[in-house]
Amino acid sequence: MSVNLRIPGPTPLPDPVLKALSGQMINHRGPEFATLIAKLTEDLKKAFATTGDVVILTASGTGGLEAAVTNTISPGERCLVVSIGVFGDRVFDIAKTYGADPVKLSFLLGQAADPDKVRQALNADAKITTVFVTHNETSTGVTNDLGALAKVIKGEFGKTLVVDGISSIGSVPCPVDAWGLDVAVSGSQKGWMTPPGLAMVSVSKHGWDVIAKAKTPRFYFDLVKAKQSAEKGQTPWTPAVSVYYALDAGLKMMFAEGLEATHQRHARIGAHTRAMVKRMGFKLFAADERYASNTVTACHVPEGVTWKQVSERLRNDHQTVLAGGQGPLMGKIFRIGHLGWVNEKEIDQAGVALEKSLAAVGHSLGARSS
Ligand SMILES: Cc1ncc(COP(=O)(O)O)c(C=O)c1O
Repeated sequence: MSVNLRIPGPTPLPDPVLKALSGQMINHRGPEFATLIAKLTEDLKKAFATTGDVVILTASGTGGLEAAVTNTISPGERCLVVSIGVFGDRVFDIAKTYGADPVKLSFLLGQAADPDKVRQALNADAKITTVFVTHNETSTGVTNDLGALAKVIKGEFGKTLVVDGISSIGSVPCPVDAWGLDVAVSGSQKGWMTPPGLAMVSVSKHGWDVIAKAKTPRFYFDLVKAKQSAEKGQTPWTPAVSVYYALDAGLKMMFAEGLEATHQRHARIGAHTRAMVKRMGFKLFAADERYASNTVTACHVPEGVTWKQVSERLRNDHQTVLAGGQGPLMGKIFRIGHLGWVNEKEIDQAGVALEKSLAAVGHSLGARSS
């Protein structure tokens, strides 16, 4: 029996992607790679719903976030980081590391960002030039209402808007142009049915204007260099060629399903997962289910057991891998990933495994559900 890997990325890989990964190497300065990068760029623009640019970096998602920060901000520049969890905090740390002057607007873990509070923060400090927002906070299983936040940040204040869409873009609607996102980042190991290794970054016209003026030093993650190289069918540095092949195969499957149908599948499976865990007696970590994520579901670890005990039973007895909590939520919540290559049956199997694992460590969920 193969492992039921239900973490919020890396995700299991379908056969066409596994096959693509075994392709022979090509000259990354040759015509085949030029054709590949041109095709991927066009496909990604469709998936990001943008007529702007998308560049592909060989990096994990954090590399994409670092590029987003260093390319848009100058040392000493005031920016607002809206944080609803670990990944929002990470963007704040990156901005601090590079000498920016970030202000953090934090929300209670499990909650989505309140557009009114963002409005207040922007009203309170005219020096803020740029706002960073996490679309889907993978650490808490909460999706911000990015459309509503963008209306405030761009529509009311005209600020530069930079978005961590690492665990959202491709899986749930995130129309980059319609919402006016200046820079948006995704990561290959999330909804794209692709291994880790690539960060995809969209940049609007306004985004390029900002980048032209931003003075933070950057070298490997220089988005202008990446764009100029892509125009010549190349990357500035040696790309992860195999992951490019894999992304091509993953995108092919997404287009065959249809981008909207892919979003609908994630919405359906998100609802299915939430219904399942609630039926089992778990409490969702998302404070308001309207903001519960359709790519990852976080639940409180029931009292009387430790996540370590349960996850060991899951892994050893049922070949099922779920994710624990991160940072301050370690041991307090667990997370079920349902993005990328996933169907209801795999979620149901994970649910059965979870129930049996809890029973094996002496916990009866039935006693909790009323
Ligand atoms: C929302 C979000 N941001 C950032 C990251 C960091 O990406 P990576 O681990 O690929 O560097 C992740 C990965 O889990 C994520 O889900």
